[in-house]
Amino acid sequence: MTSVLPQSAAALVDPQGRTIRYLRISVTDRCDLRCRYCMAEQMTFLPRAKLLSLDEIAIIAERFIARGVTKIRLSGGEPLVRRDVGDLVRRLGRHVGAGLDELTMTTNATRLDQHAQEMVDAGIRRINVSLDSLDAERFRYITRHGDLDQVLRGIAAAKAAGLAVKINMVALAGLNEAEIPAMLRWCVEEGHDLSLIETMPLGAIDEDRTDRFVPLTRVLADLQTQFALHRDAHRTGGPARYWRVEGTATKLGLISPLTANFCDGCNRVRLTTEGKLYLCLGHDDQVDLKAALRDGGIDGLDAAIDLGLTRKPARHDFRIGRDAAPAVARHMSVTGG
Ligand code: 5AD
Ligand code: SF4
Repeated sequence: MTSVLPQSAAALVDPQGRTIRYLRISVTDRCDLRCRYCMAEQMTFLPRAKLLSLDEIAIIAERFIARGVTKIRLSGGEPLVRRDVGDLVRRLGRHVGAGLDELTMTTNATRLDQHAQEMVDAGIRRINVSLDSLDAERFRYITRHGDLDQVLRGIAAAKAAGLAVKINMVALAGLNEAEIPAMLRWCVEEGHDLSLIETMPLGAIDEDRTDRFVPLTRVLADLQTQFALHRDAHRTGGPARYWRVEGTATKLGLISPLTANFCDGCNRVRLTTEGKLYLCLGHDDQVDLKAALRDGGIDGLDAAIDLGLTRKPARHDFRIGRDAAPAVARHMSVTGG
């Protein structure tokens, strides 16, 4: 299949009048780590035969670009464990500055030292790195077997290659909560941004997320006793609120889907490895873009995207509590962070 970019396609506006400009793509549901809040130790991943081919991912992404998407994030699972991901990065990178304002990636950095330069060469300027602790033992515990040094090497390689790095840290009570000020200090020293994330009830894991849930309001109050933080108006259409750390280049983001509502400004949709388009991280509404593309080509794809948009929920309904089952059964690694 070859790619087509007719320019006449209609913009993506949902029933609430929200225009979709941001596509997140999970390029694989697999990961070389097993972070406790994200995955169970034993995971069943999709058989390779069910995955979108790289060409199909690119065709779908290019169709979204033609229809007004200006930002694409590649995520997973861990995107860099998919062998051919470099080809996808190069192909989508060609649209940066020509339809796409930004191509980014969320990675756990275990393989970043081998990939940082090719990402820069392809037009990626910023990446998000998941890093929940700077203590080697704690990092290994949270990820179940991760090697902190390897990850720090990956982050250093990204910085050396000129990539702007934002650290994603999931706040976990009794695990890394006390380490948050130290993480912010490290980010200031290294010139990284830091986003703190509340655990979200996505997919079954081996523990009860309630035990680890930290409301970020509590974290912010604590950080304000140690740092001069100024509210920053920057919004991305997502659940994040930003602060500037005075006298530094570092921006602090608080991603609080459970304690702050953000759905009114939502501008994003998510494509899974299997070719399903999810309209909301917290709902099961989806359309099968793989089937639509395979059966109906670009027209079929367009029709399925339009149908999907009509199903975009007004808001998520995440809850965390003893009696609450995960809001959705699929893991973050399926839908993409
Ligand atoms: N809740 C909150 N954050 C999660 N992540 C993965 N699973 C969850 C979850 N259940 C985080 C990862 C990554 C980001 C994309 O999402 O740590 O940084
Ligand atoms: Fe892998 Fe990211 Fe999930 Fe950790 S949080 S297991 S690094 S996908």
